[in-house]
Amino acid sequence: MIEAAKQIIEKNWRDRFTIPTSRLYPFQWMWDSGFVALGTSLYNVEKSMMEIESMFSGQWSNGMVPHILFHSESETTYFPNYDFWNSNVNSGAPSYPKSSGITQPPVFGFVLEELYRRHQDNEEVVEFVKRLFPKVVDSHRFLYDYRDVHGEGLFYIYHPWESGRDNSPIWDESLNRIVIKDGDLPYYERRDIQIADASERPTAAQYDRYVYLLELGKSHNYDGKKIAEESPFLIQDCMMNAILIKSNKSLISLGKALGFGVEQLQSWQELSMSNFSKKFWSEELQTFVCYDLRGDKQMLFKEIGGLVALFAEVADSTQAESLATYLQSISDRGYFLCPSFDIDSELFDSKRYWRGPVWPQMNWMISKGLALYGYDTLANQVKSDIIALVDKLGFYEYFESEKEKVDSLSHGYGGSNFSWTASTIINLIAE
Ligand code: GLC
Repeated sequence: MIEAAKQIIEKNWRDRFTIPTSRLYPFQWMWDSGFVALGTSLYNVEKSMMEIESMFSGQWSNGMVPHILFHSESETTYFPNYDFWNSNVNSGAPSYPKSSGITQPPVFGFVLEELYRRHQDNEEVVEFVKRLFPKVVDSHRFLYDYRDVHGEGLFYIYHPWESGRDNSPIWDESLNRIVIKDGDLPYYERRDIQIADASERPTAAQYDRYVYLLELGKSHNYDGKKIAEESPFLIQDCMMNAILIKSNKSLISLGKALGFGVEQLQSWQELSMSNFSKKFWSEELQTFVCYDLRGDKQMLFKEIGGLVALFAEVADSTQAESLATYLQSISDRGYFLCPSFDIDSELFDSKRYWRGPVWPQMNWMISKGLALYGYDTLANQVKSDIIALVDKLGFYEYFESEKEKVDSLSHGYGGSNFSWTASTIINLIAE
């Protein structure tokens, strides 16, 4: 499996970065890139450093790391491409590489720490980590300065694509607030459903709303204050904020080891940690949930993002116990861990994009989180479930979660030869 995984990453390598999969996603994606760098760091650390370096070559002067870098402008098979984003409406966006105008989960703090931990005797890696450190801090500063409307240490997103869980049912209510009238949207043609099975992809109505929010961001240069005032979709995502906390923690410990001042990071971290549970814990559901700033209420769904609090160690022991008990019950009821959405909800769909399937990189974070709280058996279950799925169904983007259905399947869902799947397998087996 490790050899197969390395070959996939090799095939997806494009000079200085790795694409998630050919055809469907032919550019560099932010959090994919972080997970891939974790895998490659185990056998080719030069590649891992190049990957991260390439990502930060697209960083904006406001600190934002864009969710896609369009390194190749001649690749026209993707929508929305660089010309549709037109990110240069923001004067701090580099003219090369072209990029999208939104961000994704801030994984690079913990990625950098892992790289350092694995290679601290390698001077080249230490120098690299020192060089990247301030850039990653700047990417966090962007989230605190531009995305934290109430000064709570919890940042908002205004587009589902920022969350990494693009098509989760959590976003439906906010998306449904968007009323699209004739002439509101520019003409566009989707490419994803020409490549992947439409039943595994978002619907047309959802896609229109994605484009609407993109246009809203563009009209305010992708970082203006007006975005928060106007966006019908304004959400503090519990998963992204947990990842920010995890990455802050990594940067604080890296900063101390490498001689950087960490006061700013510490004060951000204190603020974020003090509000995380207050804002996101739902007593009723016994899990962490997202917060809808537009509707001023918690978004009461059980979904995979809530479990990432374990990875950030921001859950107390009672909360952790509830999350672990919940996961165990899902496993006992015949599901592979971890389904991306509530298996008891009518919105659950074990096949469709983020509405139920299992996602490899999520299992990596959640198994780490469970182990941090001492749930070793369950952590191993989360690892072995994804390894078993990949072994049976191949290196796909995501996987069926119902065990009974898996028996009769011969492949996974979404893109094939997928980089983060390959990288996750390399990491899990090595660990
Ligand atoms: C999809 C996923 C997102 C990922 C991207 C590239 O859009 O929802 O999380 O980054 O594909 O793999």
